Amino acid sequence: MSSLDDDVAEILITEEQIKARTRELGQQISKDYEGQDLLLVCVLKGAVTFLADLMREITIPHAIDFMAISSYGAGTESSGIVRILKDLDTNIEGRNVLIVEDIIDTGRTLHYITENLKTRRPKSLRICTLLTKPARREIDIPLDYVGFEIPNKFVIGYGLDFAEIYRSLPYIGVLKKEKYEKT
Ligand code: IMP
Ligand code: MG
Repeated sequence: MSSLDDDVAEILITEEQIKARTRELGQQISKDYEGQDLLLVCVLKGAVTFLADLMREITIPHAIDFMAISSYGAGTESSGIVRILKDLDTNIEGRNVLIVEDIIDTGRTLHYITENLKTRRPKSLRICTLLTKPARREIDIPLDYVGFEIPNKFVIGYGLDFAEIYRSLPYIGVLKKEKYEKT
């Protein structure tokens, strides 16, 4: 328990549920890419926790790389105006790229990333996201691996933040309304 727990209205997905689902996804990915090259591209910062756990459930050889994106927008809304803050170190031409994301909300951020990465001619480009909020989707994006579908609520924990805080919580929780309406 930490004082951060006090700001959580409800736990949506427990640590145990995340662990079990991450194991399943790791096994599926290991099977699907068996005998093939694989590069995991983690979108900073929210997907860091998921990547760290997912990669340890993937039993085939693979590399990792990171990309940092800013989607401008205050509070709990992403604006869809996306800028690359840190690009990949790796040349992805001819590689099997699997994007690892924390959450797909409107879909705008991931749409931007996939369109950008496609121009670099990867051999394949797929998406693995821990969470998806289908009710909020504005741009349809085919998702290859999904951890959990969640309702239209602002969530924190397991890498996901509000104003850069709460990433360290081990579960996915719903932030108390008064916490984000105050700021
Ligand atoms: P999108 O462009 O609307 O799909 O938003 C994607 C990004 O917004 C995610 O990668 C998160 O960084 C952030 N985001 C969307 N929904 C949530 C949420 O419920 N909690 C925390 N961050 C969120
Ligand atoms: Mg993200």
